[in-house]
Amino acid sequence: MSDLPKRDTRVTWHPYTQHGVEASPLPVVGARGAWLELADGRKLLDAISSWWATLHGHSEPTLVEAMHEQAARLDHVLFAGATHEPAVQLAEGLLEVVPKGLSRVFYSDDGSTAVEAGMKMVLQSWVHRREPERRVFVALEGAYHGDTFGAMAAGDPDPFFTAFAPLMFEVRRVPADAGALADALDELGGRAAGFLLEPLLQGAAGMKVMSEDFVRDARALCTDHGVPMIADEVMTGFGRTGALFACGRAGITPDVLCLAKGLSGGMLPLAATVATEELFECFLHHERSRFFPHGHTFTANPVACAVGVASLELTLQRDVPARLEMIGARIYDELRPLEADPRVRDVRHLGGMAALDLVVPDGDAGYLSSRAPEIRRAAVEKGVLLRPLGDVLYALPPACTSDDEAGRIGQTMCALVDELC
Ligand SMILES: Cc1ncc(COP(=O)(O)O)c(C=O)c1O
Repeated sequence: MSDLPKRDTRVTWHPYTQHGVEASPLPVVGARGAWLELADGRKLLDAISSWWATLHGHSEPTLVEAMHEQAARLDHVLFAGATHEPAVQLAEGLLEVVPKGLSRVFYSDDGSTAVEAGMKMVLQSWVHRREPERRVFVALEGAYHGDTFGAMAAGDPDPFFTAFAPLMFEVRRVPADAGALADALDELGGRAAGFLLEPLLQGAAGMKVMSEDFVRDARALCTDHGVPMIADEVMTGFGRTGALFACGRAGITPDVLCLAKGLSGGMLPLAATVATEELFECFLHHERSRFFPHGHTFTANPVACAVGVASLELTLQRDVPARLEMIGARIYDELRPLEADPRVRDVRHLGGMAALDLVVPDGDAGYLSSRAPEIRRAAVEKGVLLRPLGDVLYALPPACTSDDEAGRIGQTMCALVDELC
């Protein structure tokens, strides 16, 4: 038996983990395709793409090869005053596939920094435009945009960020409703900085699906009010909604598009904030002080970018959005019998995501529902890695998941409802 969990428990501190009550972590020794391998030889189907990142499958050979090759040639170089082929090639490739009208790729490391950079670009652009009072973003109820301070401020404080609430800057929060957004933008007037959303699918909120009409209406409202729209496609990007980008599915172009997770196929930390030329030009000036003072040590790391190039090629070659759509539909088919089940509400699917809300007793609802850890444990016993968002049980597996594996994920979700609810 591996002593890894014991050693881990002595020296590490895990994200989103209550060490006071949670079982020791799973000792993972390998991963291939849709499967994780544990130290005792057990195999687990990764039904959540390891936090929505793994796009093609674990240790996808094409990406591994790209990583090896690039690491041997050029491992790392700063991206201020220097450039390299993988960063430029990935930016060129991205600009061909993101919604038309976006033209500048700013790299960073993860989803939070992609959003943080986007918000800072917008805020600073207002200073450059001599409208510094435009400081208030509008964001959605239930929004989650990451864990750095700007991203936290844009996110709904409940349930994650209440401890930091006094330190957050002002954000106006609205439901995904065009009338409410219009009212907020009208009310804010010359104080509105922009509107931020996870288009079509709010992940951490509990896999909440919104209408394409709302995304289109929001785009029109931002244009009418002269404020930029920031689309956080950290989770929805690269096919998760059944289209390459949720914005593309809704037929709109945001002013800023935030990407991470699937950008490197989920293999390495890499993010991009893709902006319009108009926004970029706000920073062009003969005064050096008007540059964008944001960057990270590993901005545009060559190895991560090379993996990103390989991942984007695979995504297009294999039509990953269509593949994910089939997987999501297959899981949903298995869940369908639960639609009329009183233990469950709102069985749904969008692209590669299938979810259901559990009916739980009053007082046990939301992210901290006691159902989540019980289900997680029972799912592992059934050979599937699931991580409910509180009382929301969902799956979002990688694109290599076979029809049989997708069926097994759906069947396991049904069995968990049967046994635990
Ligand atoms: C929509 C969205 N934005 C931002 C983030 C933050 O990304 P990261 O965890 O890579 O910082 C996440 C993470 O799940 C996300 O789902």
